[in-house]
Amino acid sequence: MFNQYKNCVRLDSRLAVVAGGAGLIGTEIVKCLCAFGADVVILDVAADRGEAVTREAAEQGGSCRFDYCDLSAVPAITSEIARIEDSYGPMDVWVNCTYPRTADWNRKLEDVTPESWRANVDMHMNGYCISAGEVARRMAAREGGSIINVGSIQGQVAPDFRIYEGTDMTSPAAYTAIKGGIRMYSKYLASYYGRRNVRVNVVSPGGIFNNQAEAFIARYSDKTCLGRLASPQEIAPAVVFLASGAASYITGLDLLVDGGLTAI
Ligand SMILES: NC(=O)c1ccc[n+]([C@@H]2O[C@H](COP(=O)([O-])OP(=O)(O)OC[C@H]3O[C@@H](n4cnc5c(N)ncnc54)[C@H](O)[C@@H]3O)[C@@H](O)[C@H]2O)c1
Repeated sequence: MFNQYKNCVRLDSRLAVVAGGAGLIGTEIVKCLCAFGADVVILDVAADRGEAVTREAAEQGGSCRFDYCDLSAVPAITSEIARIEDSYGPMDVWVNCTYPRTADWNRKLEDVTPESWRANVDMHMNGYCISAGEVARRMAAREGGSIINVGSIQGQVAPDFRIYEGTDMTSPAAYTAIKGGIRMYSKYLASYYGRRNVRVNVVSPGGIFNNQAEAFIARYSDKTCLGRLASPQEIAPAVVFLASGAASYITGLDLLVDGGLTAI
């Protein structure tokens, strides 16, 4: 009964490429895509983790492969995307969930050098934008595809520094600039290629529980409607929804998966 609705999130025999698929959130996106029938390729610089996620997916009956790929090496991105499509075929879904950052990423604003700023913008924002642009161009030539860039609530609102007090945590200024840039570039791509049936969306998670300092967890939780941090398993279905036919009329969206933090 009503099969067009029952199956509208299925991704059977669709090629979904997940950059950063070996990470905290990316791993769950890979598993969720596999669960809905996609043929998944993980691109990541963490080969051991990538191979482990691939094995786990195969054990559960999923179709998943791993390919080492550095998405922050900006001059090589275009040829890397060509290599991936030559190896695996035309992609239907592109997800970028990478989180490249320098070793001094968590420095306070006053201590960030211009070199560090430029390196992070280049690796993260430029890596996301140039790869999405190249994938979109290829999808447009085929008249179809779905791109999901993983953003952050920090691309919508600035950090509330009171939640970090008494901890060694912070949120770098470059993160807000980068995620805001990715969010707006995704809207640009959605507009540019919409008539060619390429949809481009952002999924912006709130803070993910990862054994942070107790004081931070309490203060952060208090800022959300749901009163807690997220789990990576709660982010993945939003990505799969946007990848699927269930979201066929959704493009240019920044889907906030933030427990209501930005609602209050
Ligand atoms: N963890 C959070 O609380 C949180 C909250 C909001 C948004 N996000 C966003 O979610 C995304 C994933 O974050 P995460 O917490 O899973 O991070 P993570 O560090 O656990 O995973 C990131 C993955 O990207 C890979 N990677 C890094 N540089 C790469 C490169 N140059 N080329 C290819 N792969 C590369 C890493 O090896 C890793 O597997 C990021 O965009 C991050 O900004 C995270």
